[in-house]
Amino acid sequence: NAQVHLVRNLEKIQMGKHIIEPWYFSPYPQEFADADLVYIDEFCLSYFSSKKAFERHRMKCQLQHPPGNEIYRDDYVSFFEVDGRRQRTWCRNLCLLSKLFLDHKTLYYDVDPFLFYCMVTRDEHGCHLIGYFSKEKESAEGYNVACILTLPQYQRQGLGRLLIAFSYELSKREGKLGSPEKPLSDLGLLGYRQYWKEVLIELLSDPSRLPPPGSASHTPTSSDLHPHLSLGLNTPGGQYTSSISEIANLTAMTEKDVHEQLEVLRLLRYHKGQWIIVVRDELLEWQEKKLEKEKKRGVRRIDPSKLNWKIPV
Ligand code: COA
Ligand code: NA
Repeated sequence: NAQVHLVRNLEKIQMGKHIIEPWYFSPYPQEFADADLVYIDEFCLSYFSSKKAFERHRMKCQLQHPPGNEIYRDDYVSFFEVDGRRQRTWCRNLCLLSKLFLDHKTLYYDVDPFLFYCMVTRDEHGCHLIGYFSKEKESAEGYNVACILTLPQYQRQGLGRLLIAFSYELSKREGKLGSPEKPLSDLGLLGYRQYWKEVLIELLSDPSRLPPPGSASHTPTSSDLHPHLSLGLNTPGGQYTSSISEIANLTAMTEKDVHEQLEVLRLLRYHKGQWIIVVRDELLEWQEKKLEKEKKRGVRRIDPSKLNWKIPV
C-alpha cells in the first residue's frame, strides 16, 4: 500500500552511543515498527527489536570495520570500499539504514552492481561509520555517486563535504568526469552546491593552479557544451584564459555542472565579444572567511597522496 510507505515506521534507533529519530519510512520487517527502540549493531548493521537479543548478538559479533578494503587513512578518517556482490547482507543492511534518512530514492535490494565507499572514525573499539556513498560499478550516465549519506549524528560538521570530495578524487584517479545521480534531495543539492562553489572559487581565485597562458591552448571542439565559451579570467593575478572543459578536467566535475555552477554564482559575463569569468570581490571575501572558519574548526581535507586504491575491474 503506497500510503503506508510514506509514513515513518521506526520510532527510534540506537547505534553505538547515539539514539536517533528516523526521518522516513524504510522497509524493516513489520515487527520492528512496534518496537520503542530498534537496536542497530554499528559494525555489522544487523537490527534487533529487543535489547536482550541485541546484547546476545554483541557478545558474538566480531566485525569492527566495514567488510572491505581500507583504501584511505588520514589522522581523522578512513574509507573502506565494500563490494555489494561480495557483502550482500551488509550492504542491504546499509541501504535499509540509509533509507530512514532518504525520502526519494528507491531502495536497492539489488546491491550487486554497486560499490559502497564508507567513511569511518577510528578508536580503540573499532571503526565507527560516519557516512557513505554508493557508486555503480558501471554507470551509463557517468554518475560517480548514486546515494550519499552522512548519518544524522554526524551532519553539519563538514563531513558530507569530505564524502563528496572523496568521490571526485576517485573520478580523478579514473581519469573521468563525474556527477551525482539525479534527482538529488534538497539536502543533497545544498551539499553539492556548497562543494562546487568552494572548489570553483578556490581554483579561480588562484589562477596559478590553472595551466599558464599559452599552454592553455584550448581548441573548442563540438563536444564542448558551449564551444564558443573560451573564457578570459578576470582575476587579481591577471589575465588567464581557460575554458569550461579545462576547469572540468582539473576538478573532475562535468562541464555541465561547471557551467551551471558558474551561472548560479553569476560569474559569467559577456564582454567585448567573448565570455569571461569575473570573480566578484564578494566571493573572494567569502572564501577568506571560509578559510578562517576552517582553521578554527580544524581543516579537514582529503589528501590524495593517502588514497591507496586500484581502479576496480
Ligand atoms: N541546511 C542548510 N544547508 C545545509 C544543510 C542543512 N540542513 N546541510 C548541509 N548544508 C549545506 C551547507 O552549505 C553546508 O556547509 P556549511 O555547514 O559550511 O554551511 C554544506 O551543505 C556541507 O555540509 P556538511 O556538514 O559537509 O554536510 P553533511 O555532513 O551534513 O552531509 C548530506 C550532507 C547531504 C550528505 C546530508 O545532509 C544527508 O545525509 N542527508 C540525507 C541523505 C540525502 O538526502 N542524501 C542526498 C541524496 S542521495
Ligand atoms: Na557533516
